[in-house]
Amino acid sequence: MTTTPAGLADAAAYAAAVESAVQAAAAYYTSGESPLDDDAYDRMVRAIAAYETEHPEDTLAVSPTGKVAGGATVGDVPHTVPMLSLDNVFSAEGFTDWTASLERRIGRPVTAWSVEPKLDGLAIAARYRDGRLVQLITRGDGTAGEDVSHAIDTVTGLPAALKEPLTLEVRGEVLMTTDQFEAANTVRTAHGGTPFANPRNGAAGTLRAKDRPYRVETTFFCYGVLALDATGEPADSLGEWPHSRILEFAAGLGVHTAATSAVAPRTASTVEEVLARVEEVAAARAELPFGIDGIVIKADLADDQRDAGSGSRAPHWAIAYKLPAVEKVTRLLEVEWNVGRTGIIAPRAVLEPVEIDGSTVTYATLHNPADITRRDLRLGDQVMVYKAGDIIPRIEAPLVQLRAGDEQPIVFPELCPQCGSEIDTSEQRWRCVRGRNCRVVASIAYAVGRDQLDIEGLGTTRVVQLVDAGLVGDFADLFALTREQLLALDRMGETSTDNLLAAIASAKGQPLARVLAALGVRGTGRSMSRRIARHFATMDLLCAADAAAIQEVEGIGVEKAPVIVAELAELAPLIGKLAAAGVNLVEPGAVPPAPQEEGAEEEAELETAAGPLAGMTVVVTGAMTGPLEKLSRNEMNELIERAGGKSSSSVSKRTSLLVAGDGAGSKRTKAEALGTRIATPAEFAELIAGHLAEA
Ligand code: IVH
Repeated sequence: MTTTPAGLADAAAYAAAVESAVQAAAAYYTSGESPLDDDAYDRMVRAIAAYETEHPEDTLAVSPTGKVAGGATVGDVPHTVPMLSLDNVFSAEGFTDWTASLERRIGRPVTAWSVEPKLDGLAIAARYRDGRLVQLITRGDGTAGEDVSHAIDTVTGLPAALKEPLTLEVRGEVLMTTDQFEAANTVRTAHGGTPFANPRNGAAGTLRAKDRPYRVETTFFCYGVLALDATGEPADSLGEWPHSRILEFAAGLGVHTAATSAVAPRTASTVEEVLARVEEVAAARAELPFGIDGIVIKADLADDQRDAGSGSRAPHWAIAYKLPAVEKVTRLLEVEWNVGRTGIIAPRAVLEPVEIDGSTVTYATLHNPADITRRDLRLGDQVMVYKAGDIIPRIEAPLVQLRAGDEQPIVFPELCPQCGSEIDTSEQRWRCVRGRNCRVVASIAYAVGRDQLDIEGLGTTRVVQLVDAGLVGDFADLFALTREQLLALDRMGETSTDNLLAAIASAKGQPLARVLAALGVRGTGRSMSRRIARHFATMDLLCAADAAAIQEVEGIGVEKAPVIVAELAELAPLIGKLAAAGVNLVEPGAVPPAPQEEGAEEEAELETAAGPLAGMTVVVTGAMTGPLEKLSRNEMNELIERAGGKSSSSVSKRTSLLVAGDGAGSKRTKAEALGTRIATPAEFAELIAGHLAEA
């Protein structure tokens, strides 16, 4: 449905494209319900601009090119100073070319740059008189905007009173954070309304809405301040300030900026520094609690801005470095219900394949049945899908206005789709009443996997055989298997039996972290299992811990801690069997917490954090060679942590060292841009030599 002409063949195709773009822009800037995703809209406008360059005589007056907001809406409140848009670049090369043209324009190098997130919302001007918030105006056509002061109470980040009684105009972006968006759609659908397709549409709709029977919130992020005189006309008291100082000034007055986020504005003095920051912001994007669609880079000093000047649409001293679109519209074809190892029944959306940010997306997470109800999803719906970085793609919302009427309700299972048992629907996440027993084979196969108990010779087929023969019902039963029992199985000779028994016996000596991983405690993965094991040192101490004590472990918050406590209680019989079978339940080298004695805990942390990598965050990429060749990623991470370091999967400015093997790609490029230390596998093996021997 978002098909856009790559090249417009003739005047008729051009006129049709202009009409669609104008309609989309109007919908986007008014109701916030454009049927085109950003990428499709941008492509359409680029095709229109290309046609106009070739055929200037055909150019239509209504064309969106060269207009603020695609020429969409106008309001009747004149702006003090025009609210401009930004020109775009899409690559490091495009940005470098742009800096060169700016420097030619001002006749000297730009002294300093401000690099900040391009917030994905709507531009707003907020007027303060004597420190009081008096008016909120949309950008409109850039010259005049709409008065949306009725929405003042819904916007957080714009205080009703500044910390000083100043008269000024704060400019910035209003958006919905991910949490605000979820909350907004919950309350809207509960009131029989239709969900917003994405957070930006939610912010647009909320600013314009009057007299809603419910309240939803948006967040303001300031990116500029204009001083005004007593009559509300522009004054130049901030005229000589660098942009970065203006942002600090705004924050000091109590206005929200991006300063407290992971993508806080930074200054940079060279193009290389700017590009390194661009990489960092791009890498942080997927985890941000709000949407960004690029990075805005501005000449920081007032002199440079003044000399560069502005065009009618955009300033010459700032540019938007656009990041690839992370949202696309596609169709929801089906919902699958999968039963996980722990018996959780999770819905998964099957989508018409769509390309987002370089990969094809076919599935999206739907979390739980309540999530489907809250989103009011139906089979056949056009849905807005979001995917950034390594995160699992998610459906933001259906595009309700595009419904044809033949969409079908999503049917929830009445019995467990795996084993046909009843479903426990008392929690948001539905679970087969048999819990882990519903997926015995999967649970055992996972527990004996290479990164858990690492029992060689025990693949899924063999596990099925053991379960079918009634020899094992959980992985603790493996330790009770006898030679005779194994020999009696099909395709089990003496050698394989002895090898398997030896592998099972040696698995008894695995560290606690791996036993925990094998248990598959909900809410924990391998790396969290290692952290828990290091913190508590023994299974006894862990099982005796309450939620507060578990929260002491880095990365476990108020929500996860009680789940882990409940899980451990549920797993107690299995843990008891493991203990009885003589399985090691202690983490070698870890010192148990001693909460009664003050300071003892810090000492313990210090002791475990000693080693050649103490205080370092290490990332591994590419293929390992030499002494590290046989290690899986998990084993490399274990090694890093044994040597006192922290392991991480993504390169950021906090990374101390990148171990880059053969075939290292984007992580290496990024580390180079950031100036991060890079080691070959051989150099790294030498660095942690003493700890490698323990592997
Ligand atoms: S500065 C004169 N800074 O992006 C410069 N704009 O595509 C005007 N935007 O109209 C804008 N984050 O609505 C600026 N950090 C930021 C921004 C930002 C988002 C929006 C703004 C602008 C649009 C242009």
